Parts: sequence; structure tokens; C-alpha cells
Amino acid sequence: METTIQLTDLATDVLNGLRSKPKYLNSKYFYDARGSLIFQKIMHMPEYYLTDCELEIFETQKQSIYDAFKLDHLPFDIVELGAGDGLKTKILLAHFLGQNPQIRYIPVDISEKAVLTLEKELKQEIPHLKVIGKIGDYFGLMEELSRIDKTPKVLLFLGSNIGNFNHEQAINFLTQVKTAMNPDDKLFIGFDLKKDPEIILEAYNDPHGYTASFNLNLLRRINEELGGDFELMKFKHHEVYNPQTGTAKSYLVSLAKQSVYIGAIDKTITFDPWEPIFMEMSQKYDISLIQNLAQNSGFVIRQNFYDSRRYFMNSLWELA
Ligand code: AVJ
Repeated sequence: METTIQLTDLATDVLNGLRSKPKYLNSKYFYDARGSLIFQKIMHMPEYYLTDCELEIFETQKQSIYDAFKLDHLPFDIVELGAGDGLKTKILLAHFLGQNPQIRYIPVDISEKAVLTLEKELKQEIPHLKVIGKIGDYFGLMEELSRIDKTPKVLLFLGSNIGNFNHEQAINFLTQVKTAMNPDDKLFIGFDLKKDPEIILEAYNDPHGYTASFNLNLLRRINEELGGDFELMKFKHHEVYNPQTGTAKSYLVSLAKQSVYIGAIDKTITFDPWEPIFMEMSQKYDISLIQNLAQNSGFVIRQNFYDSRRYFMNSLWELA
């Protein structure tokens, strides 16, 4: 008799990625409890300008954003995909709630810890806000979201999270998002913009080593959850940015010829010296790329909000 072992999503994706040539891992798996904490450190370092820029936009333009969201009808849902620690969103929520007491906030995140912490913090910091946290990855939740009810909503996809997708994946994602939207709903997306390549490289090749630990943490997670025996010291983080395409890419490069055994998939993976694992892409945009993305996925751009340095942009979209 044959028995088939049911692999977890993580195991299946790790197996596929490390069997491929070139090797890759999926950056959505960065965010276990430890990874989410390391990402918080990244957001707080001065080199990672993205967070500061988006925070500046929210702080200085929260009333214009409120007006553009047309939150005046009661009640209103704000659904955030990949909410994380909600640091920036809290600025908007506190301001919005002052004008519309019936706003509900629905943060969605792949990290259970992140959602639970955020719910707890919001109860303290914005006690009158109704919060319904959801744990899971975006795609699975999209269908559920469309069934929540017909309350008008704005979907938030902040922090240039969209940059983790390549163009085709982004269009695919946005097409999924549409299925969760009613005709008057809105989508508010954060885009990191093209800028001096050195500024971008500094953000992802930071002197504190947080980005390196963020990447290496996924190998540690594979060791812990899938019974792997990666030696983290035998890999180094390497970042590249291509100013022509606007794509930043993260790699972990094997420092030696080595093999790694992963118990859960019962496979030994071999690495040549200097062989890379592609870990993450962080796309940078310009207005024509953003227009193209909107058009190809069936949206129209309603309004754009920039920070003072024009490093970052929040773009408000509606269904075409
Ligand atoms: C959370 C996807 C927006 O790509 O800038 C930060 C993740 N990776 N430093 C990004 C990340 C390395 C981040 N996003």
C-alpha cells in the first residue's frame, strides 16, 4: 500500500524552490514571529526610508486622504492586507475615527503574532475602534472578504508590499483583489518610487546587518519547522539593484560547496560555491509603470499622494 505524506505549504514551496535552477525561496515566508520582529527593526532604521516617507504622507495629508476615501457614509470598513504592526495605519485610523465613529478596521496578516499584538495595542491606543483581525495569506482571504458584507470599504496595501511581486504576479494579485471589491470600493496602494540607486541599495544592504538576518531567518525557520540543517554562517546576503528595471533583488550566496538535508521533505540539497538562492524582489516604480499596472488589472487612478522628497507614493484606485 502506498502512503502519501501531506506536505505543508512551506514544505512544498521550499521543495520546489530549492529544486529549481536557479534556486529560490518565497519571501512571504520571512514573516514568522522572529521575522516579523526583524522586519520591525528594519522599518526603524534610518536607511529604510520607505516607512518614514509613508508616515510623513499620512501625518501631513490625513485629512485629504480621509476626504478622498469618502468615508462619510456610516458604517465603513478599512481592510488592510499585510497589516504587520500597523504603525503607520494607526495615524490614519485615529484621525478617521474622530470624524466617523462607525469605522471598522480589518487587519489581515500572515503572522498570527502580528495580528494578535496589533489587536491588543489598538484596544489600548484607539479604544473605540472596532477591530476584526484576520490571520492568513492574501489570496485565501480574498474570497472570504468578498462575503463579509456589503459595507463600503477601502482596501489598504501599504509599505510597497506590492513590490514583492513581479509585474505578472502583481496583475494576478490585483485581479484577485477585484473579486473582493464592490463597484464603489477603493484600493489604496503604497509604491516605492525609483530614485538614486545608492539610496535604494543602502535600504536593503544596511550596515546594521538587519536585512541579512531577515533573509537568514528563513533558513533558520526551515531548520526549525522542516528539520533542516542549514549552517547560517555558510551563506551571505547580497543585494543588487537594477536602475533600468527598478528591481532590487536579495540573494543568499553559498560560501562553499555544501549539502543541506531537510527532514520534512527528506531531500538533500547541494550547493556549489557561490551559488545563490534568490530570496526577494522589491520593485521600485515610476508613474508610467503604476499607470500600466492599474490599466492592465482593470483599475483607474483617482488620486496620488507624495512625500516631500517624492521618494514614495500612495495611490488611490477605483474599479475601471
Ligand atoms: C515589506 C515587502 C515592503 O521589500 O521593502 C525590507 C520587505 N525586505 N527589507 C520591502 C523588506 C528587506 C519590504 N516589504
